[in-house]
Amino acid sequence: MSKKITIAIDGFSSTGKSTIAKQLAKELGYVYVDSGAMYRAMTLFAMNENFVSENHLNKNSLLENLDKATLHFQFNEALGFAEMYLNDVNVEKEIRTLEVSNLVSKIAAISEVRKKLVAIQKEIGKNKGVVMDGRDIGTVVFKDAELKLFMTSSAETRGKRRYDELIEKGDAVTYEAVLENVVERDRIDTTRDDSPLVKADDAIEIDNSDLTKEEQFEKVLKLANEKLRDI
Ligand code: CDP
Ligand code: CDP
Repeated sequence: MSKKITIAIDGFSSTGKSTIAKQLAKELGYVYVDSGAMYRAMTLFAMNENFVSENHLNKNSLLENLDKATLHFQFNEALGFAEMYLNDVNVEKEIRTLEVSNLVSKIAAISEVRKKLVAIQKEIGKNKGVVMDGRDIGTVVFKDAELKLFMTSSAETRGKRRYDELIEKGDAVTYEAVLENVVERDRIDTTRDDSPLVKADDAIEIDNSDLTKEEQFEKVLKLANEKLRDI
């Protein structure tokens, strides 16, 4: 059997991490795991239970009820990737709204939440053959990943890409609101105490401001194949 590696992709919001991760997983026959979807699902749980809103966070109640949120991924053949389920309900659509995006970094800064989700992520990736994207994959979840990528691009490029995506889905958002969310999430994610977003020392930085999806894929597939040759 051919050897498998672990690929960790971290970076700022809307830098194309999941696009690359899905492309790589498909090409290599690996499992793609969107760790951000798990933080988004936990946020949806907290919103549904009224533990969090724009103006409040009831951290104690959330922590007391943490065990009531069960998360799992289920592969969708038609889409070609796994979808997020919260307490056995498919929440893929609900977790991608701007409302969830505006609250998720608050929830993701809570250590107990991180501990719960990191344990699930490590379990999913224990046999390698995984491409996982997020904020702390190369620094915390898979410190030993053979290939680590750190994605960047300008805030304006990212805001525009995410705005176009939401408009296409029919969400009534403004470019200004999306850009503000992208910038604010980056601020919270890089400054939190637990597992802040930082580039791992051994991660390869890729700025894709001027790269198409095809160009960035070509670049990272080359890196992955080099690693596979070396192991
Ligand atoms: O897709 P996008 O880059 O907008 O975000 P995401 O990957 O869905 O992640 C949503 C949020 O979850 C991030 O802004 C972080 O606050 C949090 N997150 C995290 O803290 N650690 C991870 N490994 C993944 C996401
Ligand atoms: O996972 P993350 O939030 O980092 O980003 P994404 O969801 O993969 O990409 C955000 C948006 O940018 C998507 O609509 C991608 O199709 C788009 N994108 C792009 O237009 N060009 C790239 N080189 C990378 C992503």
